[in-house]
Amino acid sequence: MAGYVVVGAQWGDEGKGKVVDLLGSHVDMVVRFQGGNNAGHTVVVNGRKTVLHLLPSGILNHDALCVIGPGVVVNPFVLFSEIDALEKQGCICDHVRVSDRAHLIMPYHIRLDELMEQRAGKNKIGTTKNGIGPCYADKYTRIGIRVCDLRDWDVFCEKLSDTLSLKNEEIVKIYGGEPFDYEEMKEQFAAIRTRILPMIIDATDKVNKALDQDQTVLFEGAQANMLDINYGTYPYVTSSSPTAAGVCTGIGVSPRKLGRIIGVVKAYSTRVGEGPFVTELLNETGESMREKGGEYGATTGRPRRCGWLDLPVVKQAVTINGLTDIALTKIDVLSGYEKLYVCTGYDIDGKIYDTVPASLKDYARAKAVYKVFDGWNEDISSVRTFAELPKNCQEYIRFIEDYCKTDICLVSVSPERNGNIILKELI
Ligand code: GDP
Ligand code: IMO
Ligand code: MG
Repeated sequence: MAGYVVVGAQWGDEGKGKVVDLLGSHVDMVVRFQGGNNAGHTVVVNGRKTVLHLLPSGILNHDALCVIGPGVVVNPFVLFSEIDALEKQGCICDHVRVSDRAHLIMPYHIRLDELMEQRAGKNKIGTTKNGIGPCYADKYTRIGIRVCDLRDWDVFCEKLSDTLSLKNEEIVKIYGGEPFDYEEMKEQFAAIRTRILPMIIDATDKVNKALDQDQTVLFEGAQANMLDINYGTYPYVTSSSPTAAGVCTGIGVSPRKLGRIIGVVKAYSTRVGEGPFVTELLNETGESMREKGGEYGATTGRPRRCGWLDLPVVKQAVTINGLTDIALTKIDVLSGYEKLYVCTGYDIDGKIYDTVPASLKDYARAKAVYKVFDGWNEDISSVRTFAELPKNCQEYIRFIEDYCKTDICLVSVSPERNGNIILKELI
């Protein structure tokens, strides 16, 4: 079966966009299956940087159909502003399709996301404030508005009217916020409706038929395992399932149709927003990683928290996703450190664990057990074979592979599309 999956194996921002773009030139379809424009996926080709939020990172390959699947939450205004920005740069986007079953992020979701974060104060999650959580919450409360509702204007208006009165009550009475005007919102959607209608498809049918006809389909995960609603550091997570299993529920594809499952692993750790982070470096080393790695949010611009590689976190992603391969990124950023530390387990009250505990209170007491490696000083960004890498760097990479018992198919050494050491045939 030719279903390929790319997922994040840490807290997001591992370089999924780069890997998807690289594989994207060999596939017939690139499909987003969860999340929304909370994602920020960077693609760099010949020095030109493109950041995708809602559009699949295969967008630069005009031959691959780009599908926004049923499990995604879609802000149609963001969709068109992204498309317009890309088309201005000469990238034609007539190969984008949107699932009829995807839920719409409405302006009130965004306002509620902001108001809830504000009210939570020091207990805030540190969301991207793009309305992701409130939109998924409405989906599960069964009051969401879906893309297919835009096809029948009367249905859309009725749903909008019902839901908006409820949401306005919540905004005003609970949070003391500004209510929305129904007519105004209706007009906003009327303005984009004619543009989105021709893009709407039954994505489940389209993707399944493509797979049945032996086309190559690449499923692009957003966020990552540690931000998963079920397995992440709850409540400091996103509201979807960014795992390989999320492909099945988010698209309506059988697990039997998935082939290779590639987990993207950054050679160190980063996290944006609040939540536990055992190997975090709140010192000059952390700051230097941030500067060298350009660790600022691709969506919000927030500085990313940085720390040493946490292998129990990665191992959990290996297990839950059933990773067949690891794509290791940003190893070039680690050049120049005398010693490198890799967390191999957690010491919680004197007992050693190699899994992430469910309780945040337990996790807060976890102390990292480190294996220490000698560093290297060489700039490795133009290295293209494993043998050319400094010996200490090779050792660091092989240790990750051994710990995870998973093949590393690719070592990325620069943001550029071609800045890679390929260890295993990709597609
Ligand atoms: P994503 O959300 O997983 O797609 O990752 P982001 O795009 O948010 O963050 C990854 C950042 O690292 C981007 O700025 C990429 O251009 C950059 N990047 C990806 N791979 C490499 C690499 O191997 N080396 C370096 N130095 N940068 C990389
Ligand atoms: P990509 O796809 C890193 C984080 C937010 C916050 C939490 C919940 O680029 O890897 P949300 O807006 O989803 O309700 O925020 O999840 N978060 C991400 N962190 N990369 C992402 O996406 C993220 N998407 C959400 O910072 O902590
Ligand atoms: Mg990102």
